[in-house]
Amino acid sequence: MANANTEHPLSPIMDVFYLTTLGYLTYGNAMKHAIGSLAKLKEDKKWRVIFNDHPYLIALVGHHVYAIPDQCPHQDASLFQGKIVGDTVTCPLHQAKFNLISGEIDEVSKMLYFDFGPEKITTHKVVIEGDQLFLEL
Ligand code: FES
Repeated sequence: MANANTEHPLSPIMDVFYLTTLGYLTYGNAMKHAIGSLAKLKEDKKWRVIFNDHPYLIALVGHHVYAIPDQCPHQDASLFQGKIVGDTVTCPLHQAKFNLISGEIDEVSKMLYFDFGPEKITTHKVVIEGDQLFLEL
């Protein structure tokens, strides 16, 4: 399968990849979308990828790759811009903390901002096949 990823020429620092609909495989009920190589993610540690106009944060933590929407549910800040410590990403705008594995929002952030919002954010599976990474959506 051809890798349909192309780095956006206007955002080389942001590690933004624009994906086309050519880069997917069907996988059960989910679709697997090719997003790049594990070797490159090991260098970069995190990516912001956009698929069907929706941005996602892809993060390598230890030996695991995680994917969540790159959009804070509070006021839509980019979580890609946030700091990742362990399996937690901190929103750069108001410091809400999200678990990359479970999508859980920490208790302090829930009290401050999410009393009527979501209990957790969506997490997506990233499949590793050889050196190729696939985002399941
Ligand atoms: S925008 Fe993320 S916590 Fe407010």
